[in-house]
Amino acid sequence: MAQGARAGDMVGGRYQLVQSIASGGMGRVWKAYDSRLQTEVAVKELWLSGPMPPERRAGLLKRAQLEALSAVRLRDHPNIVTVHDVVVEHAIPWIVMQLVAGGSLQQRLEDGPLEVLEVARIGAALLGALGAAHQQGIVHRDIKPANVMLTGDGRILLADFGIAAPETGTGITSTGIVIGSAPYLAPERAAGKPGKASSDLFSLGVTLYEAVEGVSPFLRDSWLASAHAVRYEQAPPMRRAGRLAPLISALLAKDPLSRPPVSQALALLEASAAHGGDGRAKRADDGAASSGEASGMRKVAVYLGLVEDDGLPPGKRNNGP
Ligand SMILES: Nc1ncnc2c1ncn2[C@@H]1O[C@H](COP(=O)(O)OP(=O)(O)OP(=O)(O)O)[C@@H](O)[C@H]1O
Ligand SMILES: [Mg+2]
Repeated sequence: MAQGARAGDMVGGRYQLVQSIASGGMGRVWKAYDSRLQTEVAVKELWLSGPMPPERRAGLLKRAQLEALSAVRLRDHPNIVTVHDVVVEHAIPWIVMQLVAGGSLQQRLEDGPLEVLEVARIGAALLGALGAAHQQGIVHRDIKPANVMLTGDGRILLADFGIAAPETGTGITSTGIVIGSAPYLAPERAAGKPGKASSDLFSLGVTLYEAVEGVSPFLRDSWLASAHAVRYEQAPPMRRAGRLAPLISALLAKDPLSRPPVSQALALLEASAAHGGDGRAKRADDGAASSGEASGMRKVAVYLGLVEDDGLPPGKRNNGP
């Protein structure tokens, strides 16, 4: 079936393909109907068709199973797309997941960069998702705008733990190819080292940079040139990031040991919200928005057990020097 799959086809004896939503590097995402639970789902078809050495096919199938296992451990998180099932049809794995009504951050960025406040909200949501994953020893390995879903009602979900694997996995295929998208890869991963939690934080930094600045800082005209840029070049100075610039700069540290972990990144985000000052004209309602945003971020941090709930409003808190 694979690339020849059509609307109407039944997958795993249960999921009927309704229409193709979009294609990515590894497969195609379909809107489908779960005939058993009588509800709509998304089904990701992994392109494994055509001639391929048996060990590569087996490796890709194993990866799909690993994805399901990783994702099932994270299924209750409000900022992570829920994976329901992995089925094998015609020797191809199909990943069944929550159908997200909306589009990706990548699609949204086609209309131009986002406002600082919106990017701060995205940062808080993704840090919440990564905090939960990293606590379980799971790294994502492919944080990028195409894997951030934005719903019409304002929710933010991290998709595609497709190449996520327990932190002990290397993220490097048997053929030596590094998994992930070059302009978002952490420098150590571009150098062929295994991905760690800190590598996800670099990719988050690139994603937030692109969201607020409207340009991908390390995107070049080839995989190798992008990988070289993430390793050796500095991102162009930020013009629109305002109060998010310190957080984004910290996430983009070339040395993984210098990057803030999730807890510190949340604290930086919270401090930026409490102190405001995005360097541009403030609207009359900015104060209320910032304070609501800061308390939202604090809730994320409290929920994750990263900070204690002191019950204070954000503006009254001592955020350190
Ligand atoms: N659960 C989902 N519900 C609705 N749309 C989705 C869902 N998952 C993915 N999509 C859409 O399908 C597109 C393609 O996803 P896919 O993961 O195949 O490719 P990608 O993220 O662009 O690249 P890669 O293959 O490197 O992950 C996404 O950009 C998104 O717009
Ligand atoms: Mg994807």
